[in-house]
Amino acid sequence: MNIPHKKEFLVDAYGRTIKSLRISITDRCNLNCIYCHNEGSKCSSGEMSVETISNIVHIAADFGVNSLKITGGEPLLRGDLEEMLASFPPLKDVSLTTNGVLLRDRAHSLKAAGLNRVNISLDSLNEENYRRITKSGNGIFRKVINGIYAAVDVGLTPVKINMVLLKDVNECEIEDMLSFTRQFHGKVILQLIQLMDFKDSSRYDVDINKIERELEFKAEFVKLRELHKRKKYYINGVEVELVRPVDNTEFCANCNRLRVTADGKLRPCLLVSNNLVDVSHASLEEMPDLFRLAIKSRVPFYRK
Ligand code: 5AD
Repeated sequence: MNIPHKKEFLVDAYGRTIKSLRISITDRCNLNCIYCHNEGSKCSSGEMSVETISNIVHIAADFGVNSLKITGGEPLLRGDLEEMLASFPPLKDVSLTTNGVLLRDRAHSLKAAGLNRVNISLDSLNEENYRRITKSGNGIFRKVINGIYAAVDVGLTPVKINMVLLKDVNECEIEDMLSFTRQFHGKVILQLIQLMDFKDSSRYDVDINKIERELEFKAEFVKLRELHKRKKYYINGVEVELVRPVDNTEFCANCNRLRVTADGKLRPCLLVSNNLVDVSHASLEEMPDLFRLAIKSRVPFYRK
């Protein structure tokens, strides 16, 4: 058997050690956001069983991965997510990225099954604008807001609100979003995300340097996060993180993630699609070598 030795880590040729696994459990989604990259997946070709997902997470944990993010599509469309969570080995951090629509009624059971925290996508606090961005119907926006309150209530904290910045669409709402976040007294963090152009959406590109300067001006102090060298700003009691993935060599140089697609392929980089390694039919014994193989092809997308 090829089970990783207790001290074996996944280190790529650029010296980056994989500490974080980002696993998509479905490509299905109940929204249709104008900018969405669908985690790099174009069409869905089946979903993994709870057992396969659990095996992948166990192997990753054996290799020293200590942080897990569950994504989609919309992961709450899977009713067996709680079962999945309960099957995982102990990890430092287990989080979920969700659009929040179905969160209110699941928050408690997710927490009980072992989820630590959630990231909730919310690009606008203006209902009409929200509907336009997500192409959603009546009442959906309210459900998301209720989902945020429920997540805070059950302690899926810190809740991170993901706001993708869109020129002439929601750029002017940063101040409103700061006020909304402030009411949670540190239990909610605002993440401002630079748009990655996947859907011919360059017309929505904001001037990210200008936004960075404005945050710097408003902030009492600024910290640098190890992951992706992201900057954190502290503005009048609110923590704001700026995620700048585009044309950012530092972002790639400090990336410690491995992704898994909904149909069970290890994906070393969101921006590269020719080096996927299929583990969907692999046994627990075969998986470690497939992980090692995937890591060999891991190259920083924005090279120096
Ligand atoms: N650019 C940047 N972030 C994106 N997301 C999805 N598509 C894009 C994109 N084109 C991120 C957002 C969203 C989460 C589900 O994925 O953070 O909240």
